[in-house]
Amino acid sequence: PSDFALTGRSAKKVVILGAGMAGLATAYELGKAGYDCMILEALDRVGGRNWTIRGGDHVTELDGSTQVARFRDGAYLNAGPARLAQWMVTMDYCRELGVDLEVFTNSNAQAYIYHQGMPAPVRWRTAKADVYGYVSELLSRATDAGALDGALTAQDKERLIAFLSGFGAVGDKASGFKYTGSPRRGYSLNPGAAEQPGTALGPVPSLSEVLSSGIGQRFAFEFGYDQAMLMFQPVGGMDQIPRAFADKIGRHRIKLRSAVTKITDLPDGVEVEYKDRHGRTQKIKADMCVAAMPPHLLAKTPHNLGAEVQAALATPTVASSGKIGLEYRRRWWETDEDIYGGITSTDLDLATIWYPSYGYGSSRGLVVGYYNFGAQADAYAAMKHADRERRAVEQGMLIHGAKYRDELASSVSVAWKLQPYIEGAWVGWPSRQGAYQLLNKPAGHVYFAGDWLSYMIAWQSGALESARKVVTELHQRVLSTS
Ligand code: PHE
Repeated sequence: PSDFALTGRSAKKVVILGAGMAGLATAYELGKAGYDCMILEALDRVGGRNWTIRGGDHVTELDGSTQVARFRDGAYLNAGPARLAQWMVTMDYCRELGVDLEVFTNSNAQAYIYHQGMPAPVRWRTAKADVYGYVSELLSRATDAGALDGALTAQDKERLIAFLSGFGAVGDKASGFKYTGSPRRGYSLNPGAAEQPGTALGPVPSLSEVLSSGIGQRFAFEFGYDQAMLMFQPVGGMDQIPRAFADKIGRHRIKLRSAVTKITDLPDGVEVEYKDRHGRTQKIKADMCVAAMPPHLLAKTPHNLGAEVQAALATPTVASSGKIGLEYRRRWWETDEDIYGGITSTDLDLATIWYPSYGYGSSRGLVVGYYNFGAQADAYAAMKHADRERRAVEQGMLIHGAKYRDELASSVSVAWKLQPYIEGAWVGWPSRQGAYQLLNKPAGHVYFAGDWLSYMIAWQSGALESARKVVTELHQRVLSTS
């Protein structure tokens, strides 16, 4: 898609609540059309959940407990968004803003699947070889035996069997279409020079073992429209996007450490009260307001937008998510396990382990030791940081062994429900009727924007699309009434 631009200009004043992705995109797009924008942001940084943590950064939770990141050598943790799909509008903004991109490896045949009770983690490539192999064997046999004659012509049966032969690497009809393993599974000793053909990874598990392990249930993840490779990340951290937005908007148009305390819709505009960085109450008047804060925080902010709006703001349910960044002295996942990026999936409470898609072959590196949701995220959130680290490491050792503990240099964890002025990972709607529809319309001079008002919740693109929709409507209204 091409870059977005409003047609026609206006010099109207707009106050924007929140410098997350929706608020930034709103100010950026309105600014391009001449508007006089001011963003109020409660935190001392822009980006909202788009937050990249580097050495020296502080992570303070609602109870006041603070961690200081000690990451070195350019290591960073994208505590919030960390992957972009190619079809998302975020890619267009990266081009327009001059943010450099690199591939983010979301699925890697060399990473692992680990389910409790398995004797050892299994590489994705091995899991796929076995699942595809046995499924192909079964389907070939059933087809050949006539079990699908009602659904397939004789020619289609042949074509299906030909497909399965390659898909599953199964034997021919004479062998009963047997799956007996294949080089796709990998090697315990890689093929080498001269007389070294390699040692195939063995033994091949039985069909029943493969089914009971549940590994095949992991494969659907990478089929998702929003999760399929290739995926991308900004070079140097996801916060390159909000930083670029802020530079284009002009930092003088963003008031940091300015928490909104009251929203008043007026006959001719809107007034917003906030606490400035010195704790003093200030007021700002504008023609229009775009509230680009999380709904559950707007619901706690005094306003005169009416009982229906208030009820709507309190409707969505807040979701939990958390991450821990584990910095290692040595990139053992590369040197010892030949894993260069990608994700290990587990049924442990750490859910996933992410290997970095940057800094390959350098000395140190940062692994995401857990990225989990719901009850698993709540369980880690309830712990102090030291206990989160201890548990994440103890669980990760089931996959990577003692080096996972011994080579650890430092760590930082984020529990999104405990982050001041954010208080959640994202939200869910019980339905897209009623409250959702109401908040997708302005309340007087106040518009609402955010991923929570899109069909791409928990994606930056949802926030960006919502901002584009709101500025389009706001601009049309301004042009038609002036
Ligand atoms: N966008 C987030 C992520 O990719 C959250 C999410 C996960 C959204 C899975 C949809 C599906 O991790």
